[in-house]
Amino acid sequence: MTVRLRPVTEADLPLLDGGDSPYDSFGPRAPRSSAHDPSLTAELGGLTIADDDAVLGNVSWVWQRWGPNAQSRNPMIGIWLAAAARGRGAGTEAQRQLVDLFFLHTAVNRIEAHTDVENLAEQSALEKVGFRQEGVTRGAQWREGAYHDGFLYSILRADWASR
Ligand SMILES: CC(C)(COP(=O)(O)OP(=O)(O)OC[C@H]1O[C@@H](n2cnc3c(N)ncnc32)[C@H](O)[C@@H]1OP(=O)(O)O)[C@@H](O)C(=O)NCCC(=O)NCCS
Repeated sequence: MTVRLRPVTEADLPLLDGGDSPYDSFGPRAPRSSAHDPSLTAELGGLTIADDDAVLGNVSWVWQRWGPNAQSRNPMIGIWLAAAARGRGAGTEAQRQLVDLFFLHTAVNRIEAHTDVENLAEQSALEKVGFRQEGVTRGAQWREGAYHDGFLYSILRADWASR
């Protein structure tokens, strides 16, 4: 399997429906174009995860802010894979490639990710990429009619450089 990231095309949209996992079930969504800007500096951006001709899923990001300076902003990344594409290493590889894109093509010092405390596959994928778990975000995420606890993860440029 050759996993690659590429801009989202119109033909991908019906295949990127998400919502079929308890960890990706956020109810009705905004028009798809909102999370499909391929620019890494887009406030809300995303790319398709493809394997040769097949669409496997998508990665996305939203920029977080930890202070007033531009240097205190960092992307928080997310991922969804179609059920048939899970458990074959694509999630790890796609997130590794997205981390490489941010550190190679922007000046960010930090990339974040967040996942449910019960999402063992995503926790493991993030740790394999080099993310470190920082703590529990209590009741932070509303999904399927309830607030859920999650783990906050980060990888710093120095972690990435010494990987
Ligand atoms: C979470 C997700 C991105 C992981 O990607 P993936 O390609 O399925 O995972 P990988 O094959 O890269 O496996 C990563 C690790 O998780 C482990 N893993 C995979 N599925 C697992 C499961 N259901 N339970 C526990 N561990 C699991 C793998 O064994 C692997 O670890 P290892 O190499 O040490 O054995 C993908 O499964 C997915 O999109 N799931 C639905 C949506 C979702 O949860 N998105 C993330 C929301 S934060």
